[in-house]
Amino acid sequence: MTQPKPRRKLAYHTATVRNAILTRLPDALMGGALKARHVAQRIEIQERTFTSANWPRDFDGLRIAHISDIHFGHLLGPQRLTQAVDAVRAVNADLIAITGDLVDLSAHEAPLLFEQLALLRARLGVFVVLGNHDHLDNPRAIVKGARDAGLIALEDESVRAGGRDGLLVAGIDWAKSIPTCAARLRRCGAGRADLLLAHNPKAFVAAEERGIPLTLSGHTHGGQVARRSNHRHNLVFTQRLSSGHYHHAESHLYVTNGVGAWFPLRVNCPPEIAVIEMRTR
Ligand SMILES: [Fe+2]
Repeated sequence: MTQPKPRRKLAYHTATVRNAILTRLPDALMGGALKARHVAQRIEIQERTFTSANWPRDFDGLRIAHISDIHFGHLLGPQRLTQAVDAVRAVNADLIAITGDLVDLSAHEAPLLFEQLALLRARLGVFVVLGNHDHLDNPRAIVKGARDAGLIALEDESVRAGGRDGLLVAGIDWAKSIPTCAARLRRCGAGRADLLLAHNPKAFVAAEERGIPLTLSGHTHGGQVARRSNHRHNLVFTQRLSSGHYHHAESHLYVTNGVGAWFPLRVNCPPEIAVIEMRTR
């Protein structure tokens, strides 16, 4: 479900003003140095292995490439996107998950974005859910662009990846709060998913209640500015689950730093692509 148009217009306007003040103006004052330094950071590959008794035995050892928060636009353009896409392709994962904020502001940039995302291939498919930034302008154009590029866009729905007995992948659209995440997850139906894709890590509260073995999220960018000694001490104060791996009983959550950002500063919080290997206990 998308937000009503007037609210979306106001959110787009607010984001555009914020972008002008926090990104374009300081970058212009520094002669483009902020952006140049920002995109010069190496995209790290975070390899993690999680074990859960709830993970289906048929998919023991499955490798998932997780990329999020591309924020395609002013800060992250085609060249940087090529680096990210090449990095995901090099991982050769069984499944690729893109967890929202594909664009930064405008959906007009989407065709260029999807030209490159169409190059992603994985045995079980390339899955996409939308983030809050994808809703600022034209979320329908983002979903259509993703589907035209051969990606599987999930809007509060579940699909079997790999056929009738395949991995049950659920994906929810952007939701701001724990209850709205839970409501969207209920709409996915089809029993307990094996994998949940949700832009907002707050979805983990509902996911762990259901015993979903793996949830992949983004949204926080890992706080963008974090303490070297503890990456969970960061600029995100509104999220308890702001960075990295969390687990409870047989449920795991990975919150990626993402590859892009909406302001050009990352301290002790490098851009990343996560590669998650899931094992059955
Ligand atoms: Fe984001």
